[in-house]
Amino acid sequence: MLFVTGGAGFIGSNFVLDWLAGSDEPVVNIDKLTYAGNLENLASIRDDRRHLFVEGDIGDSELLARLLAVHRPRAIVNLAAESHVDRSILGPEHFIETNIVGTFRLLEAARAYWSALQGEPRDAFRFLHVSTDEVYGSLAAGLPAFGETCRYEPNSPYSASKAASDHLVRAYHQTYGLPVLTTNCSNNYGRYQFPEKLIPLVIHNALAGKPLPLYGDGRQVRDWLYVGDHCSAICRVLDAGRVGETYNIGGWNEKPNREVVETVCAILDQLRPRADGLPHARQISFVKDRPGHDRRYAIDASKIARELGWRPTETFDTGIRKTVQWYLGNPAWVQGVTSGAYREWVGRHYGH
Ligand code: NAD
Ligand code: DAU
Repeated sequence: MLFVTGGAGFIGSNFVLDWLAGSDEPVVNIDKLTYAGNLENLASIRDDRRHLFVEGDIGDSELLARLLAVHRPRAIVNLAAESHVDRSILGPEHFIETNIVGTFRLLEAARAYWSALQGEPRDAFRFLHVSTDEVYGSLAAGLPAFGETCRYEPNSPYSASKAASDHLVRAYHQTYGLPVLTTNCSNNYGRYQFPEKLIPLVIHNALAGKPLPLYGDGRQVRDWLYVGDHCSAICRVLDAGRVGETYNIGGWNEKPNREVVETVCAILDQLRPRADGLPHARQISFVKDRPGHDRRYAIDASKIARELGWRPTETFDTGIRKTVQWYLGNPAWVQGVTSGAYREWVGRHYGH
């Protein structure tokens, strides 16, 4: 039995769906169902007896203790988090609560559960914490990609809260011996990503004839990884990662934001041309920059390749085409998540 947190979010739901497609091992999925959590992502496994969904908070110690005692998982995969940088700038409190205090409570519950185990179940138990490349801060042009030993230099309330959670995970291993694994991943894209993040936002706005907002000069660089590849990397680390180690996960796909947006526009020009025949890229609009905006992230994913034999299977070209096709084929999902609360956020954030 796996115990997954945040499994109704973007990466979490992809992880649960992929897991159950490849294994009969059941999953308990605990998610608070914030604005980013969506049971529609899990609609295809609604009647699957291998999946037990529990609406709950990773900060709820009592609930965690009860669920661990009843389900006796062999591993916890922690994906629950507040994940959007812009929201962390507007209101950091939830990020501190979930990413720091929530992870702490989850670690405490895991420690109590694991300490009481004996023999093989104790040796086999793992706590896998999913983190981000943003903890390493902004990388100057020309410098080598982030390795696992790079210094932590978080620049946003989001990345600072993730950095704090990574440190807690590390401390629980060093101090209590909890068998932890940490993964630091680059920008994911793919099905079920909430359209507050760059790629789904651009697809959504392009189809709606709205501006495609690029922050600042649009030359900030991110490394893009298809979500299915991230999920396969998590499985590989869970299977064979060395306890106490960190693994950086990336797609070897550094791209400036402007190029990413232009690529999405070009695919839409082929698959869903504008009624007037003009290119979607005409909708690009340069807007005020994000405060503290990190200029570049790049991940050196050679450790996970060398030690665990994991490599991404999608190139950016194949992954982005699949992604655009998925959004075009699932308008009801997009409509479901771009409700009143979503429009309020867009109005507040881009309204200035
Ligand atoms: P997401 O915002 O789409 O999903 C987060 C999920 O966590 C949601 O379902 C939400 O309801 C749930 N959640 C939030 N607070 C909770 C709480 N207190 N208790 C239980 N559930 C709670 O995020 P995502 O993009 O899927 O990211 C998942 C994880 O991967 C996060 O830890 C994030 O930091 C990390 N990560 C994301 C990316 C990326 O590009 N999206 C890259 C690297 C790492
Ligand atoms: O690097 C991993 C991180 O990637 C994860 O830890 C985060 O959870 C995830 O949200 C993502 O963070 P980013 O800030 O990089 O993602 P976002 O999609 O918000 O932005 C990607 C880039 O595009 C970034 O440089 C900001 C820019 N951007 C974003 C939006 C929403 C724009 O130019 N315009 C926009 O409207």
